[in-house]
Amino acid sequence: MRHILAILLITFSTQVWAEEGTVTGLQLAEAPIHRADMESIKRGAKFFATNCMSCHTMVYLRYDKLAQEAGITIDKMPINVKTWPYGVTPPDLSLEADIRGADWIYTYLHSFYQDAERPTGVNNLLVPNTAMPNIVGPYQGEQVLVKDPTPDLLGHIRWYDAVKLTKQGTMTPEQFDETIADLVNFLAYSAEPFHAEQRNIGFWVLIFLAVLLVMMYFLKKEYWKDVKKHKDEQ
Ligand code: HEC
Repeated sequence: MRHILAILLITFSTQVWAEEGTVTGLQLAEAPIHRADMESIKRGAKFFATNCMSCHTMVYLRYDKLAQEAGITIDKMPINVKTWPYGVTPPDLSLEADIRGADWIYTYLHSFYQDAERPTGVNNLLVPNTAMPNIVGPYQGEQVLVKDPTPDLLGHIRWYDAVKLTKQGTMTPEQFDETIADLVNFLAYSAEPFHAEQRNIGFWVLIFLAVLLVMMYFLKKEYWKDVKKHKDEQ
């Protein structure tokens, strides 16, 4: 019963994300990230430092060595900026991957589209009327909204069904996917810097427990041998 409830809750919660956006039934893309890939995280950190840190802070990484080597330092973060365009303060992104999830950020950064009615000139499938300009636009290119996208058999629509690339940016779609994956990998790292290390320790703990299990089994046999012998003698 509890399992059924959990499954229902999970299905329902993804549905809620979907209903929030411009397109009903929008399904999040799966972020193709490998959390143990430190090179990818470092590339993502560099991209963050040059493209995102003019607006977004990353306060919990202020003492992180990897972040500092990529140029993410507290003195370069816009901590003291009080007035922002349209009165919207860009949120701190240290824990963004915990709050929204990697798949959500990956989809968000892919789904900006041209909208002449917005002061920024763009809109977003996941956050309608977002105050964030399309910072990744020069790399990805320009996208337009697709009228009445066709859902798949399950009624799901992906971001690439809902928008169409009309003008490619400086990157090919494959290069752009990889760059955004690195960036999202870095944001996932920032929310949980010890993830890779914890998994590594967890692996050895399981090996240790497996060896212990075998040893305990033989120890138990050894003990019971005496108990049985004692019983037979009585
Ligand atoms: C010009 C300033 C600016 C830059 C540069 C910028 N952003 Fe933003 N970003 C914003 C603002 C403002 C918001 C809040 C949007 C809103 O709530 O309407 C935002 C929102 C976001 C959100 C969604 C937060 C949420 O949970 O709703 C994410 C994720 C994000 N930005 C990531 C990035 C990344 C990654 C980069 C670098 C590629 C970047 N931003 C560069 C201004 C900026």
